Amino acid sequence: MIKVVNHIPEIREIINNWKSQGFKVGFVPTMGYFHEGHLSLMREAKRLSDKVVVSIFVNPTQFGPNEDLDKYPRDIKRDIDLAQKVGVDIIFAPDATQMYDPDFQTWVTVEKLSQGLCGDFRPRHFKGVATVVTKLFNIVQPDISVFGQKDYQQLLVIKRLVKDLNMPIEIIGHPIVREKDGLAMSSRNTYLSSKERENALSLYKSLIHAKNLIEQGESSPEKVIDEIRNIIESYPLTRIEYIFLGDPENLAPYHKQIKKDVLIALAVWVGNTRLIDNIIIKIS
Ligand code: PAJ
Repeated sequence: MIKVVNHIPEIREIINNWKSQGFKVGFVPTMGYFHEGHLSLMREAKRLSDKVVVSIFVNPTQFGPNEDLDKYPRDIKRDIDLAQKVGVDIIFAPDATQMYDPDFQTWVTVEKLSQGLCGDFRPRHFKGVATVVTKLFNIVQPDISVFGQKDYQQLLVIKRLVKDLNMPIEIIGHPIVREKDGLAMSSRNTYLSSKERENALSLYKSLIHAKNLIEQGESSPEKVIDEIRNIIESYPLTRIEYIFLGDPENLAPYHKQIKKDVLIALAVWVGNTRLIDNIIIKIS
């Protein structure tokens, strides 16, 4: 039976108990409102460990002042039910007062990887993410933790912070889970009207087109970016925030030529909803 824990001392006690029995602990941090993407991370954590903890915490420090913190979708009952079916052992759902003391003043900043891509448009976002994930790691003390490649920059930020701060945690990246037509699953997809939902497909379509171009030998970053832009802009409800094409290891943009494996990452507004997606194309 899944157990829901709201308080830090209680989860520490359970985990200490597990550790004393030699169990390997897997952890999936989330902001809830589960979809198949979240559930696939939980299944992977379960495959790789003996006990699985999933956190649900809509972290205020990673939202900007005009972002969707207040309207972020929540349905804890449904989440508990879905996690239970996957075999999760504990849902850790603290409230904000437990996570952030009124006099809170310690932050974790992953300097270079937090810049560029989403970092340029959400200036304090990755500082909020790195800080809350560090806190959650300190609370749960997992052996492994699974993150989605959907938030590719976030995954790199977390891998870097674990290395830099000598945390004994293995970070596992998990592939993007998509709807049947290719739209990357996201809790924010629920904001989309049916017209917007059609426009949202432009992200995946443009990424697949870019992949085909590159696989057929196109090596000009500019040309590929232009074609992506044309596809997305042919959908009237879209507004491109950025199109990134560059190195999947360090997020350095490719300016002249595509010679190595390439990450293409997009952020696009569809109506009032900001969507992200990405693809990695291997160059043989
Ligand atoms: P959230 O957006 O809830 O995502 C939780 C995890 O699910 C992240 O690792 C994310 O990359 C993964 N995920 C989301 N959509 C996915 C998809 N379609 N396929 C595969 N994985 C997917 O990311 C966060 O929460 C927060 O920033 C958090 C790390 C919890 C810190 O607050």
